[in-house]
Amino acid sequence: MTRKEVGNISGESRRNFLQSSGAALLGLAMPEALSAEPRAAESLATLGGGKTVDFPQDKFEELTRWPRYGQAEKDALHRLIDTDKFYEELPLFEKEWKEYTGIPYLRAHINGSSAITSMFFAIDLEPGSEIMVPSYDFPTDCLAMRFFGYVPIFIDIHPATGTFDLEDARRKFTSRTRAVFPMHSWGMPSEMDHIRDFAKEKSLIVLEDAAHAHGASMQGRKMGTWGDLAIFSFQASKCLPTVEGGMGMYHNELHFQRATAFGEYLAPETYPASSPVHRYAGTGFGQKYRMHPFSAAVGRMQLRKLDAMNALVEKNVRRQNDPLIQLTGLSEPRVRPDQKRVYYHANMLLLDSAKAGFSRDALVKALKAEGVGVSTWVYPEQHKLTIYSEAKWWHHPPVIPPSMPGDDYINNQHIFLPLFYDQANDIIDQYVKAFQKVWAHKSQLA
Ligand SMILES: Cc1ncc(COP(=O)(O)O)c(C=O)c1O
Repeated sequence: MTRKEVGNISGESRRNFLQSSGAALLGLAMPEALSAEPRAAESLATLGGGKTVDFPQDKFEELTRWPRYGQAEKDALHRLIDTDKFYEELPLFEKEWKEYTGIPYLRAHINGSSAITSMFFAIDLEPGSEIMVPSYDFPTDCLAMRFFGYVPIFIDIHPATGTFDLEDARRKFTSRTRAVFPMHSWGMPSEMDHIRDFAKEKSLIVLEDAAHAHGASMQGRKMGTWGDLAIFSFQASKCLPTVEGGMGMYHNELHFQRATAFGEYLAPETYPASSPVHRYAGTGFGQKYRMHPFSAAVGRMQLRKLDAMNALVEKNVRRQNDPLIQLTGLSEPRVRPDQKRVYYHANMLLLDSAKAGFSRDALVKALKAEGVGVSTWVYPEQHKLTIYSEAKWWHHPPVIPPSMPGDDYINNQHIFLPLFYDQANDIIDQYVKAFQKVWAHKSQLA
């Protein structure tokens, strides 16, 4: 399949998307017969009718429980506690993650944030260098730049995909831009092929935040291996949870050596004498960022289950979303056919209120009354937070964009449904019925 055939979401301007947003534009519009919504039967629970979902709360909590540790993790920790070889666990986890991803160099870190800070140190840019990063992102991705005099350029996300909007990046490129740093929100891969092409054209380093995307891939290549440097987080909520943990991923040996030496004073002496980092043996660069061996032991066990868990979660999502996206005005963020996404934290759906004929608030209220575990969460946009508007923290003040239409679209249109981490057909089918019931009464929600 050529790149053209698999599509080019970023090529579709977000202005066009926002003007005509909805299922039709996403290619999700259904023939009339298929999209027919069920006829109103019982009244909505908000109006005194019975609840559609009668799934027991304790079973719901068991199905949504995360992280999921079992005997394998307990045994691995017990085995490790009984040895005096704690640190041997780290290269074992690194070896297994390397085999899984196919990256040439990597290092396990105490968390994703320390991997990000080490990565910024590794790229060794001049103070004042600007790095393009989504505002819809975790604080460390922008804030750790401060330590090296780098400055974030806040990039919007594309409303169709929820990830890095290349069109916005092209507009905001300056003579000081040195790197791009996309993030794969909620497991949806950014369009790394187009981002790499742009980076090549402008001679930029590609950094990648794969903290939401363990096991996701594009064109058969794992996320976390597309950037020149990349990071994972293994924090407790993530698809591969070690409670705390992170991984730095590097294609270039010098990047690996610098990133590692930043957080490990013993690392430089393990490098060849010809390495420019070797002379910092015994000191490193002042941090201690090595992963805790207990996290590595848990990570090794979780890695064995990662693909199966991702597949199970996806199967549950498909059973749920396939009927839901036939409801007028409800859609999923778009993923290209050559991208394999995973699901981190929640199953995000997007409501086009104009098409559906009712507001998101009305929908959430109605679904909650039906017993659906629906929620919304406004992902904090970095550019709106105080620290970015105080010049003293920055080499030069970051430009605060007046608006981020893509962020607004995703933050205002999404609903989150829980992910189910076990066989969950019963509750999923009840959820689908609850949605269909709400749509059947949509005139009462308007
Ligand atoms: C997108 C993203 N990047 C980086 C991080 C930082 O990872 P950690 O919490 O392991 O420091 C997180 C954490 O939630 C994240 O969501």
